[in-house]
Amino acid sequence: MRLSEKVVLVTGGSRGIGYAIAKLFSENGAKVVITSRDPQRLEKAASEISNSSGVVADIRKRDQVRDVIKQAIEKFGKLDILVNNAWIFPRIKRLHEIDEGEWNKVLDANLTGQFRFTKEAIPHLQKRSGSIINISSDAGLKAYQGFNADAYSASKAALVALTKCWALEYAKDKIM
Ligand SMILES: NC(=O)c1ccc[n+]([C@@H]2O[C@H](COP(=O)([O-])OP(=O)(O)OC[C@H]3O[C@@H](n4cnc5c(N)ncnc54)[C@H](OP(=O)(O)O)[C@@H]3O)[C@@H](O)[C@H]2O)c1
Repeated sequence: MRLSEKVVLVTGGSRGIGYAIAKLFSENGAKVVITSRDPQRLEKAASEISNSSGVVADIRKRDQVRDVIKQAIEKFGKLDILVNNAWIFPRIKRLHEIDEGEWNKVLDANLTGQFRFTKEAIPHLQKRSGSIINISSDAGLKAYQGFNADAYSASKAALVALTKCWALEYAKDKIM
């Protein structure tokens, strides 16, 4: 119960790694908010994770992101930890085969989405020396032969850079 005083928001916590992260936080005593676009899957996940609450939201919609933060604060009174986990994976194609719409769709979810959540969360994290955990990928650190998911790799590399930027920018607020 090391985290019994903590309130954690996990984006994309309805399944996969996000679900596992949310469950682990909960098992260690934290109160957890999870998000996804699918109400049924989210409700099921929230019912399986103690002390959790699901908020339906598309990470690409600023108003919905704001609403997640608002609902988290209304329900649990504060926010200590943001886990930027939600993502989409593009169709495997070489760079010259994708159009700008496909490129932008991936960056909107995987990069601008993390910006949206982090921007809205920071005023709350500043109040209590909070933490931001960004889930990137080895694809953001190195290139793999035949991987052919450039927008994904770019979004994850950018998230590694942003993690360093935010660490420096918000160290004075004791956000880690
Ligand atoms: N899986 C891997 O092999 C792997 C490897 C390296 C890194 N990672 C990283 O680990 C993280 C989790 O991966 P995963 O494989 O566990 O993911 P996953 O099982 O595909 O789950 C993705 C989550 O993100 C949510 N999501 C997707 N689009 C969304 C949107 N527009 N708005 C809100 N939520 C959205 C999904 O819910 P809905 O679809 O219902 O909205 C779901 O909850 C990602 O950041 C990924 O880059 C994964």
